Amino acid sequence: MEIHRTRAKSRVRLDILVGAMPTKKELLTQPVKHIDIKQHNVVPLVDAMQSMAFSARDTARAASIYEMMLQDTDCGVILCLAGSLISAGLQKVIIDLVRNNMVDAIVSTGANIVDQDFFEALGFYHYIASDEYKYGHEDGVLRELMIDRIYDTFIDEEELRICDETTHQITNSLEPRPHSSREFIREMGAYLVKNGKTPAAGGKDSIVLAAFEKNVPIFCPAFSDCSAGFGLVAHLHDRQGKPSVSIDSGKDFYELTQLKLANPTTGLLMIGGGVPKNFAQDIVVAADILGVEASMHKYAIQITVADSRDGALSGSTLKEASSWGKVDTTYEQMIFAEATMAFPLVAGYAFHKKAYSARSGKQWSNILDQVPVTA
Ligand SMILES: NC(=O)c1ccc[n+]([C@@H]2O[C@H](COP(=O)([O-])OP(=O)(O)OC[C@H]3O[C@@H](n4cnc5c(N)ncnc54)[C@H](O)[C@@H]3O)[C@@H](O)[C@H]2O)c1
Repeated sequence: MEIHRTRAKSRVRLDILVGAMPTKKELLTQPVKHIDIKQHNVVPLVDAMQSMAFSARDTARAASIYEMMLQDTDCGVILCLAGSLISAGLQKVIIDLVRNNMVDAIVSTGANIVDQDFFEALGFYHYIASDEYKYGHEDGVLRELMIDRIYDTFIDEEELRICDETTHQITNSLEPRPHSSREFIREMGAYLVKNGKTPAAGGKDSIVLAAFEKNVPIFCPAFSDCSAGFGLVAHLHDRQGKPSVSIDSGKDFYELTQLKLANPTTGLLMIGGGVPKNFAQDIVVAADILGVEASMHKYAIQITVADSRDGALSGSTLKEASSWGKVDTTYEQMIFAEATMAFPLVAGYAFHKKAYSARSGKQWSNILDQVPVTA
């Protein structure tokens, strides 16, 4: 079975719109360019922000904590990703962190890793939408043109379907058994290598590829909630009750906890909130369940626009997490800001201070290969 994301019939009156309607080609012209932290030395700027107030001072403190986290070579750094970060131009920041041993594991939403990073690795782009589109008045037109919108960014829905279909093919190629999302995503990395989707073969670099090559595990605890979910649904439908591939989120949690046991000193760099934030924080408690008195995460940074007043996780402070025994309060910093502005400053600061120079890659995927395979 091939995947077809069937769209509900549009109620847009094409006859009225047709005169003014732009073509798809006209709308998908200007790709989002990923910011290159290597090209911008932000150190003097961030240092100056230390003597300011509000979010500037919080950002400068967070950048110093990230620097400290990397200089502590015992520390395993876990990067957490929520929101639409790759489509927004942050892909290269994360690739550079992985390739320079500044991240040892990634916990993310599936959207960032599959719909956005892997999607770009297949050769596709996200496009800049002009201002008149970002408030939604033209969404009916976009729907007719099969263009998806993320605020001020466009995606070609037909290309996204190729991404869905690729995850279907990868699912079909796997041994029919429960897999952690980490195992699945590693196969996505292997797929890119096998199919020439690498810079060496004339393709693009990607987070999935960099992590595959550097043995950095990537976990998506809610893996079905993205393009890969369409691949899994199609696979299960094909199998009709015969042995099939499934995603075991319990195994994800068990594997991530093994990393805490193997490497007791840990730090979290969290971009956005959501499931990745809690999942990574909770490995301290999970280790406790396994009878190991694990230390709290020694360092923690979170960049979020969420508010703490609703009591929900995404805006809950790291001090609050310490009341649950998850995060130490000595080196923690919240930045209440939008990630496209704050993350390049924090990452760029640590990069240009060469905070990674004494670190070598922890190659955590190798530890996880020892975790017994689920039948
Ligand atoms: N985001 C998408 O476009 C998208 C697309 C397909 C599937 N999904 C799925 O939806 C689920 C929820 O994902 P989500 O990440 O969109 O959750 P989400 O929007 O709930 O994000 C979690 C929190 O992170 C913070 N955040 C997000 N973006 C931020 C930014 N740019 N700057 C600062 N803080 C930010 C917000 O406080 C938000 O409440 C996941 O399973 C994901 O795979 C998301």
